[in-house]
Parts: sequence; C-alpha cells; structure tokens
Amino acid sequence: MIPVAKPYLTEDEVNATRDVILSGWVTQGPKVAEFEEEFAHFVGAKFACATSSCTSALHLTLQSCGVRPGDVVITVSHSFIATANAIRFCGAEPVFIDIDLATYNMCPDSLRRFLTNQCDQRKDGLYFQNVSQLLAAEETPLNYVEQHIGRVSAILVVHQMGMPCDLQSILEIASEYDVPVIEDAACAAGSEISFDVGKTFEKIGRPHGHAACFSFHPRKVMTTGEGGMITTNDEDIWRKVKLLRHHGMDLSDVQRHESRLVQMEQYVTTAFNYRMTDVQAAMGLEQLKKLPALVERRRSIVGAYRKALADVDCLSLPEEGAGIHTNWQSCPVRVGEGAARTRDEIMQWLLDKDIATRPGIMNAHLEEPYQNKMWHLPNSETARAETIILPVYHTLSDKGIEFIVEQLKLAVS
Ligand SMILES: Cc1ncc(COP(=O)(O)O)c(C=O)c1O
Repeated sequence: MIPVAKPYLTEDEVNATRDVILSGWVTQGPKVAEFEEEFAHFVGAKFACATSSCTSALHLTLQSCGVRPGDVVITVSHSFIATANAIRFCGAEPVFIDIDLATYNMCPDSLRRFLTNQCDQRKDGLYFQNVSQLLAAEETPLNYVEQHIGRVSAILVVHQMGMPCDLQSILEIASEYDVPVIEDAACAAGSEISFDVGKTFEKIGRPHGHAACFSFHPRKVMTTGEGGMITTNDEDIWRKVKLLRHHGMDLSDVQRHESRLVQMEQYVTTAFNYRMTDVQAAMGLEQLKKLPALVERRRSIVGAYRKALADVDCLSLPEEGAGIHTNWQSCPVRVGEGAARTRDEIMQWLLDKDIATRPGIMNAHLEEPYQNKMWHLPNSETARAETIILPVYHTLSDKGIEFIVEQLKLAVS
C-alpha cells in the first residue's frame, strides 16, 4: 500500500530519544529548552515555546493575545477543526471568511468586506454587528456571555497544507483595523514567504503576525509524535504562554531541580498542563536538522506530479505564487469538468490499486458544533468537495510517483 503520508524517522531519532530516556529526565526539561532555541533560530524568531500539540499552542496563544469570552475571532472554516476549537476553548466564537480557490487560503478581499460591512468601530474596539446570529450554534460559549459580546479580538490565519497565505495583504488590513494576527502554521514548518516579490525569503514562524503555532503530528513534515511550538518576537506573549502551559507555576522544573536553595513556587494564574516531554524534544531536534532536506524532496515530488499531470485538463494543482515557497505538507489536486469519474470514485479507484488518498480539507462549518445557516462559504465547500490529497512523503520513490500518476490518469479518462 502507498500511504498518503509517512514520517521519515531513522536511527538518529532512536539514539537521541534513547539517551534522553536513560538520562532519567523525561518530562519538559533541558531538551525542550534546546529544541525551542534551535527552532526559534531556524525560523528567525526571538522566542519559542514548545507545547503538547498545535491545538494547545493555539489555545495558549489566543488567550495570551487577549482573546476573551464573548469575543469573536476571524478565521477560515476550511481547516482542520482544531483551528475553530481553539477559539472556542477561550470562550470566543469563530467567524468564518471564505478562501481563495487558487491558494486554498483566506481571501483578503472577503476579509476586508467583512471588516468594512459587518463590523462597527466602538470606543473599546471593533465589534461584529451580527453577533446574535452566532447564538444559533447550540454549542457556542457566547450563549453564556452578556457583556462586550462580539468584540473582534484576533484574526487567526491558516497556512493551509503548508502554503503560506497572503500575509502581506492580511497584515495590512489587520493593522488598519488594529486587530492582532495569529498564524496557524500547523502544516508550515519549513515554508517561506517573501515580502519583496521573491528577492529575499523569510521562514513562516519568524513570525509575521503576533505569534505562529506549529504542529509536529506525524502527518506534518517534521514530527515529534505529538507536539507543537509557538514562535513570537513579543517577550510578553512568550512569558504568558510559558506560564500557561505549566500550570501557571512561576518556576520551571529545571530551576527548582538545580537550585541549591529551597524554592517555594507560586501558581500565579489559572492554567494548563500543555507541556512537551524531553523525549519528544530530542526527536524534534533530529527532525529539525533534516527539515530542509525533507522540504526539498517534497518540492521535487510535487514538481514531478505537476509535470506529469500538465496535459490532463480536468486535474489542477495549486500554483505557488511569486514570493511563496511552500513545503507541500499536502498536495491537493482538484478534479474539474471532463473527468470520467467523480472525485470519490477516483479516490476509490486509487485505493483499489493500493494508493491511499484523502479528501480535501474539511470545513468546520459543515460539522455539527459549528453548523449555522449564516455561513456562505462556496469556495471552502468546493475545495472540500472537489479535491484529492495525493501521497507525498520523503521515501516515496520516483517509481511510486509514476504509478500514482498512471492510475490517476486512467481513473479520470
Ligand atoms: C491547520 C491545522 N491547525 C491545527 C492542527 C492541530 O494540530 P495538532 O494535531 O498538533 O494539535 C492541525 C492538524 O492537523 C492543522 O492541520
């Protein structure tokens, strides 16, 4: 069976984690600190904070950036459900903006239309006019909040499938309305963006908004089994997220362990256990060394798909615009008019030939907790319904790619 994804793990990760296990320090400790430092250096950020997952990273970051119960956070529905759930963890409610079908990311024009036509500027911030419509979703925490309801406290953009969104336009719009931007970079470790039309590139996570959140789930380009990372240049956010991931304790375990004076820690805020372990961090350090090579191979695999499918009119891959270097965490192919089979039939055809694929990215607003008649997101729904995610992983051979392309061509003809 050709899987849709497969982590690239070697004896390097085995040896690194073995050493940590035998050291006896297996919870968050020196390896996590080292991984944070190396990751921050890799993306060009001042600070990093490792977490148990990207979901927990998003929760800590939204809370630390000031998202409060009753607020709304602007985001996309076309994402893994954790993006929307993290907003709800803060007692806030997501407002979904449609995507651009060329990039599968937030459409800056739709964002501007929403901020201009559907929000009011009040003395204490920007407010969503139609907040009462959000109360239709039974699970919304807004049902319990009466004051300041509808304040727009953040824009949570997603670099979907590793493809950087149009950050330049979105940051400009957000600064006009004075709303912080947080980046869901779950899929985007190793992706790059240019702000000078391709002359120079910066890593996603530098960060360009207030903070960026990464995932190290095995479906991502680099993995720690489970795990996440927050990067920021804002020392205040960094201090807050570090406190919140560790029960609000004002001392780290390492500080307490190394002190020659008896230490009395204090718990200064209501918080969580969202720590990464040193075993995961040791794996992360090895994966980070491999990241540039992992990205390069993925780029060449997608290049091969693009070349081989160029003459198939009914199949299209997203274009990497000028100023974008995606890591191709996932490679979506859109099935258009003229295909002999439906999207689902093509996926079944491939599965019958031992090729695993996945449907396009889910839409949160189509799932039960977020269903509400107010959403009109045709592009998000089209992307979900018409795309197939093809296998991309480091050890996928050229022969494997040829076989997948051959079967895909047979399935559509
Ligand atoms: C866009 C996006 N955000 C958040 C997450 C959640 O990441 P994690 O599984 O590390 O919590 C994912 C995972 O697939 C994702 O794709």
